[in-house]
Amino acid sequence: MSYDALAPFYERLETLVFGRALQRARCAPLEAWKGSDPRTVLILGDGDGRFLEAARRRWPAASITSIDQSEGMLALARKRTDSSGVRFVRGDARVVLEELDSKSFDVIVSHFFLDCFALETLGELVPQIARCLRPGGHWFVSEFTAQTAWQRCVLWVMYRFFNLTTETEATLFPNYGDVMRSNGLEPARLGTWRAGFIVADDWRPCPSGVAGA
Ligand SMILES: C[S@@+](CC[C@H](N)C(=O)[O-])C[C@H]1O[C@@H](n2cnc3c(N)ncnc32)[C@H](O)[C@@H]1O
Repeated sequence: MSYDALAPFYERLETLVFGRALQRARCAPLEAWKGSDPRTVLILGDGDGRFLEAARRRWPAASITSIDQSEGMLALARKRTDSSGVRFVRGDARVVLEELDSKSFDVIVSHFFLDCFALETLGELVPQIARCLRPGGHWFVSEFTAQTAWQRCVLWVMYRFFNLTTETEATLFPNYGDVMRSNGLEPARLGTWRAGFIVADDWRPCPSGVAGA
């Protein structure tokens, strides 16, 4: 199995385990950032397109690039969305990002995508992504957190499932936040769900270039 095979069941499975919490986290930037009008948006590991559908409604004038390596996921996203203004790219984000101009996106979105990668990969991927962000841009991230024993337990079970059923590289939840900070990015919290297990953040380059300075 892979994300292609999982794609038709992905939403049902998610709803069974988390209810609407993940979709609320995905859409938090659209709520928090009402009235904004980005011109260029990059969505990484877009999945079945539920965020894309909501983003199209909120940002109708935006030109959106949606990258995913799973054809099954992209097919669902295409079906769900009026594709005017959307460029779908099938491929490994690490390769596709190399072809994108630097500083070319007002908004970058990665929902439950960074957790697919091992920490060493994130060390290269995070700066690759950050390079595409325009000065003053926003990188919206929804993710899980691994602060408490029960959260680490649930994540352990989730990784066993995704390692068995998909090509997910990470075998443990990576501390992506440290990698983001070491690349000069700082988060502003947009919301938390399920007792803090799910978070949505707006990551932005900090003015000093050193996060936490
Ligand atoms: C856990 S799912 C999250 C999907 C979606 N963002 C969401 O919020 O449900 C991870 C997604 O990232 C995609 N993905 C994983 N590794 C990738 C890579 N190296 N390049 C592009 N897409 C990737 C998978 O195909 C899958 O659709």
